[in-house]
Amino acid sequence: MERYAHITGWGMAVPERVMTNEEIAKLVDTSDGWIQERTGIRERRIAGPKETTASLAIEAAQAALEVADLSPELIDLIIVATSTPEHLFPATASLVQDALGADRAGAFDLLAACSGFIYGLSMASHSIQCGAVNNVLVIGSETLSRVVNWQDRGTCILFGDGAGAFVLQSSEMPGGVMSSLLRSDGSGGSSLIIPAGGSRLPATFETVRDNQHAIQMDGKEVYRFATRVMASAAREVVQCAGLTLNDINLVIPHQANRRIIESAARSLNMPEDKFMINLERYGNTSAASIPIAACEAVAQGRLRPNDNIVLVGFGGGLTWGAAMVKWDVPFRPEVSPWHRIRRQTVYQLAKVRSALKRGVRRVEGALYRTRPIPEEKQPPKK
Ligand code: COA
Repeated sequence: MERYAHITGWGMAVPERVMTNEEIAKLVDTSDGWIQERTGIRERRIAGPKETTASLAIEAAQAALEVADLSPELIDLIIVATSTPEHLFPATASLVQDALGADRAGAFDLLAACSGFIYGLSMASHSIQCGAVNNVLVIGSETLSRVVNWQDRGTCILFGDGAGAFVLQSSEMPGGVMSSLLRSDGSGGSSLIIPAGGSRLPATFETVRDNQHAIQMDGKEVYRFATRVMASAAREVVQCAGLTLNDINLVIPHQANRRIIESAARSLNMPEDKFMINLERYGNTSAASIPIAACEAVAQGRLRPNDNIVLVGFGGGLTWGAAMVKWDVPFRPEVSPWHRIRRQTVYQLAKVRSALKRGVRRVEGALYRTRPIPEEKQPPKK
């Protein structure tokens, strides 16, 4: 019996704060005209002091669970694709799992930079297809504004914050993620990098002073790489699914630069209106850009039931990847109000339970520390 991984829920979350190109022009030597002409970006969202990669991920995940009408206790696996995790560990995915009250879920972070969401989608669909899990939450979430050097005009104009999430569920009905491909070329790692903060270059006064905890990029190099791989990955993944480019209704590319997307459209010989583009409002939100664009494509009626779509991403690593999806979920605008109330209750209870568990852990710790060591386990007296 064959199993398929269908996308049954989608959701997004972006910070309220909008940062325009004009504002950036007050920080570095640039202009709205230059940024729009070279990238297509007009504005981006910037996380406020209380917003983090986890808080955006949780909001997007809750929206996706709403669309799928799925209870958090039924999630088997949570994958958070991010380059800006809350900590090196614990994984942001575990924080999301705790906040959602997803009791039965495994959770891990995935780092493949801007290709992270495609990598997560591929892992999730294969886990479903092989029978290991039934319900998976794949989230791309970023707060890149926290790792941007706001004095570097080559990078700070490009990035923004946000999150997007998909719910994937198993079904015997053919459809969903039909093929995917993942690629990497680590020889180009230094062309898009945050050099410090890992084990190779731990934080020191010097690394902070020299801005080595911020994104460094060889823009031209990355541009050339992106235009090369996008079209070939899209072509290959469509072929793998047994289709041709003529069968594709919509391409949802990683939103890095309008010129890169236009170049891919030319290489694929596809009209530009078959490409979903919303980077003018969000900039490059890395692992979050593809699910955010998918959510907006649904909202705008550009992504409809039974459409064949291609998702294609590229980024640091260097990494790239693509997925061909049959978007055949029956749309369910009428989510039962009872289910919605139940989910809200689960989220509230998750907070209480998390606090209780932390309390119990503290008490256990205190008791363990004060318990006397039995005579026979004490070191011999001299
Ligand atoms: N504002 C004004 N001028 C700028 C500028 C800015 N923000 N950034 C660079 N310039 C200047 C350069 O100094 C250069 O001036 P010069 O000719 O006097 O030396 C000129 O503009 C051209 O610079 P260049 O680097 O050739 O620009 P570009 O057309 O390649 O555009 C990027 C730069 C970063 C927009 C472009 O290379 C790009 O988008 N690359 C891909 C980056 C990307 O997508 N990264 C994420 C991947 S996931």
